[in-house]
Amino acid sequence: MADPQDVLARRVQTALGAAFGAEYAGTDPVIRPSQFADYQANAALALAKRLGRKPRDVAADIVAHLDAGDVVRDIEISGPGFINLTLRADWIADRAQELLADPRAGVPVQQRQNIPIDYSAPNVAKEMHVGHLRTTVVGDALARTLEFLGHNVIRQNHLGDWGTPFGMLIEHLLEVGEGSAEADLVKTDPNRFYQAARAKFDGSEEFAARARARVVALQSGDPATLRLWRELIELSKAYFNRIYAKLDVTLTDADLAGESMYNDALAGICDELEEKGIAVVSEGALCVFLPGFTGREGKPVPLIVRKSDGGYGYGTTDVATLKYRSEVLKADRAVYVIGAPQAMHLKMAWGTAKAAGWADGTEPVHVQIGNVLGTDGKILRTRSGAPIRLMALLDEAIERAAKVVGEARPDLDPDTRARIAQQVGIGAVKYADLSVAHDTEYVFDFDRMLALHGNTGPYLQYAAARIRSIFRKGGLEPEQATGPIELGEDAERALALTLLGFGPVVAHVGDTLEPHRLSGYLFELAQAFTTFYERCPVLKADDDSVRASRLALTAATLRVLVQGLDLLGVQAPEQM
Ligand code: ARG
Repeated sequence: MADPQDVLARRVQTALGAAFGAEYAGTDPVIRPSQFADYQANAALALAKRLGRKPRDVAADIVAHLDAGDVVRDIEISGPGFINLTLRADWIADRAQELLADPRAGVPVQQRQNIPIDYSAPNVAKEMHVGHLRTTVVGDALARTLEFLGHNVIRQNHLGDWGTPFGMLIEHLLEVGEGSAEADLVKTDPNRFYQAARAKFDGSEEFAARARARVVALQSGDPATLRLWRELIELSKAYFNRIYAKLDVTLTDADLAGESMYNDALAGICDELEEKGIAVVSEGALCVFLPGFTGREGKPVPLIVRKSDGGYGYGTTDVATLKYRSEVLKADRAVYVIGAPQAMHLKMAWGTAKAAGWADGTEPVHVQIGNVLGTDGKILRTRSGAPIRLMALLDEAIERAAKVVGEARPDLDPDTRARIAQQVGIGAVKYADLSVAHDTEYVFDFDRMLALHGNTGPYLQYAAARIRSIFRKGGLEPEQATGPIELGEDAERALALTLLGFGPVVAHVGDTLEPHRLSGYLFELAQAFTTFYERCPVLKADDDSVRASRLALTAATLRVLVQGLDLLGVQAPEQM
């Protein structure tokens, strides 16, 4: 176990037991990073109340019983009773050496859970918008991280592939003709196809009637209609897969688990809910009234599971979804990476599934995705007010990155430059989603996300590339830098201690599902490396053993940076 905070916690707990008796050995030692030392143990303050003694005396008692000479260099009681703990440099060095030899770079393997993750979930024959971009990027980072932590991650792309719009979409497809240029728009610019269908639907009563009849045919399983419906899905899949490939996300066709998958279960679900007395008919519709869901004037708000016309909605599907993920996928945690505005919808669907006993042993979690705004502070749109085409947005990011790379590295051949531009442009867009808390609104700003300074993707990519160039210059592979690590300078010590934080932060992301914690950590690491590199010559160190140690620290930094970026789904270019 390389986490200094854990090691100190256990040592202080042992001291608590020794000082105050076994019943105190379970007390939280409250280890926190400290301004005055590496860490501080704050347990004495709360304990003093329980023991009816002065906090500083309690602290002194803890210190007297603390057996940590192999880990800690200095112990100091400060303020009202904080215990400041400064680690021994040789202890940090040994742990950093272990990290260097560990293929997991100190990341623990967690107790394995089954974790379906619902993310991306765009709608067929519609544009993916920046909201979908954000759930795709955040969901993919969580999938990668949880997998690395040893969990059984089951990606669930809950495609919007069912519902009344398919009536008009299919009728429009028939009119323009399968295989026509208009039909191909679904693969390239789906909104234009959707808008055209919509315009006919709104403009022609005759078309609208056909569209409605088509919905009925679709729902009753008419083979010709189903074939056209599948055709639309195939076309859309081609579009989504191009976006996924460009984004370098791990979703494949095998992860598609769209709304339509649950169709056959919906009637049974409604019947059972009614039998169990969880759903009741109200104004012709089958409704679930859950305690705590009220609207204006305290009026109860129902989840409508079957409409008065007999149709099922988005809510019914999500009841089925949790049931499936719990009963079939055996989910321990069922993660939903979905827009924050859908929080109420999810709570009602989950509450219904839980009430029916369909999700025992499963903890559903909503990873709320905040809005992405334009630089004007409004929901991001094109200048003409149309929703942004995601593909065009990604292409623009790559183009802008190409300009930056072209200016910085005119010496590289065009193919290499193009590859780097791809990695930097996409990395910048993804990292912008991952560097802020997933539930906050943020402003989509190319200039900021592509900046080479600050907490950006390109800054971290550049940090990794710069380390690679140190090794190229030194004529050795990072793997050859094996130490031994010795910590003399403050900047070396600080870098090594930061490196030890990698495993704990990844584990923390696994628990909290907050990838921005990892981003923040990587940014700190890159800064610690910059300070180290400014103060401590690596290749030009005067002493061979110092050089070997610094090269090892440099190699460990590269490993952690590249591994960390990979968990976020951001590539690290060989050079920049
Ligand atoms: N397709 C939906 C949308 O675009 C998101 C679906 C999220 N997943 C779910 N299980 N409801 O808003």
